[in-house]
This record gives sequence, C-alpha cells and structure tokens, in this order.
Amino acid sequence: MDLSLAVPPESTYRLDQMLELLNDDERNRAGRFRHDDDRRTFITAHALTRLGLSRHHPGITPTEWTFEDGPWGRPDPTNAGIGELRVNLSHTRDMAAVVAADAIQVGVDVEHMTQEDWIYETIDTVFSADECTSLLRLDEASRRERFYLYWTLKESYIKARGMGVSLPLTQISFAPSDGDGVVLEVEPGVEDEPSAWQFAIFHPSPTVRGAVGARTDELDLVSSWPTLR
Ligand SMILES: CC(C)(COP(=O)(O)OP(=O)(O)OC[C@H]1O[C@@H](n2cnc3c(N)ncnc32)[C@H](O)[C@@H]1OP(=O)(O)O)[C@@H](O)C(=O)NCCC(=O)NCCS
Repeated sequence: MDLSLAVPPESTYRLDQMLELLNDDERNRAGRFRHDDDRRTFITAHALTRLGLSRHHPGITPTEWTFEDGPWGRPDPTNAGIGELRVNLSHTRDMAAVVAADAIQVGVDVEHMTQEDWIYETIDTVFSADECTSLLRLDEASRRERFYLYWTLKESYIKARGMGVSLPLTQISFAPSDGDGVVLEVEPGVEDEPSAWQFAIFHPSPTVRGAVGARTDELDLVSSWPTLR
C-alpha cells in the first residue's frame, strides 16, 4: 500500500504543469477556489493522485485516469484492467496526501493543526463519550495532539468506508494502545467489525497530522514524497 505526500509548490510554473494532468472537471473546480492556498493544495492532491495511480499501473498515463463517485461521493478509478484498485486523497493547508492499494478499502486524512480553541466547540457531536472524557482529562498541549489524533483516525475510517459523515460519528471510538497503536471500537449502528481494521498515524510536518485506515490484516504502508511532474 502506497502513501504519497507532497507540500504544494509556490511556483506558478510547477502548478501549471500539474494542472495539465487534471481533467476539465478538476480544472474547473480548481478555478473556483477563492483562496490561493486551497487551490494549490487541491491541484497538488489531484496531480499526486494521478501520478501515484500511474506508478501502480504504468500502462495508464496520469491524464488517462477516469473516476466515478460512489453513493456518498467517494471517487473511485474506473479504467479498464485495474482490478479493484482503490485510492483516497486528502488536502489541508500545506499538505496533500494520497493512499492507494489493490483490493483493500483505504482512507487517508491530513489536517493542519490550528492553535485556536474553536476546534473543541463541537467535540460532543463528533467524538464518542469515551473520546470526549479522555480529551478533557489532558493538559492543553496533549489535548490538542489527541484531538487531531482522533479526528484524523476517524476521518481515515469514514473515508475508507466511503460513507463520510453519513456514519454515526459518535458511535466510532478510538483509543491509544501500547506503543504507537490505536484501538477502534464501534457501536452496532456502525455495522462493522473493528478487528478487521488497521491504522497508521504519521506527522508529515510539525504542523500537520495524518492517519491512514485500511480494512486489512496487515498494514504494509510504504510512504514517499514523489516528484510532482
Ligand atoms: C467528504 C469528506 C470525506 C471530506 O473530508 P475532508 O476532511 O473535508 O477533506 P479531505 O481533504 O480529507 O478529503 C477530500 C477528498 O475525499 C474524497 N471524498 C469525497 N467524498 C468521499 C467519501 N464519501 N468517502 C471517501 N472519500 C471521499 C474526494 O477525493 C475529496 O477530494 P476533493 O474534494 O478534492 O475531490 C467527509 O469526511 C466530510 O465531509 N468531512 C467533514 C469534516 C467532518 O465533519 N469530519 C468529522 C469526522 S472526524
């Protein structure tokens, strides 16, 4: 399973090169962002996706990839001959991430860490009772780290399921386990078997946190920072 990471370039020349890899729909979407930062991360994430998929299947060039949205909006590649190739992308300020795997449900999330406190305003609508309790027990610095740990893990899981926020978020619960491990627990409404899942967390920069979730026995994750061209 591949995890590709990239910092969006400042250079207009390099962004234009990446824009040429995207299809009309992606280019139109890129053109609609009001903030340059958002546009740069969007273009980078989608170019990174196409380049990553072509590394998986060198017979298909980056511009040739086609996608179709699933029932809850997750785009899956539809080219002939790719089997059950799955891909998922995430973009945040200053970082894009893409995970790709054969025949495994995968999801990725990266989040830029803000130092503001509004992030805590809606925790009871997003986190489980156990997650909320554990957050409130921590000192400020640890609480912020834990918030982003839970958030990215939960996003990676709901994105891997392809169902986004249609899943009951407060019924999905993560807890740190020994070492770097995490344990997933779900209530019956989530309709899943938590032991079928593996997760990996990563810190691609001092201000960005990320997680990958995959429905697999063994998470064999290879990370890289590919050249964007
Ligand atoms: C749709 C959703 C996946 C968006 O997540 P996000 O954190 O805002 O954005 P990310 O950058 O991580 O991911 C966006 C990408 O996920 C993909 N995506 C879209 N719908 C998806 C779905 N149902 N499942 C998986 N992936 C999806 C797309 O490729 C999208 O890229 P694009 O918008 O550039 O086309 C969904 O999880 C959501 O709406 N989250 C809102 C945030 C929230 O409330 N999270 C609470 C859980 S902790």
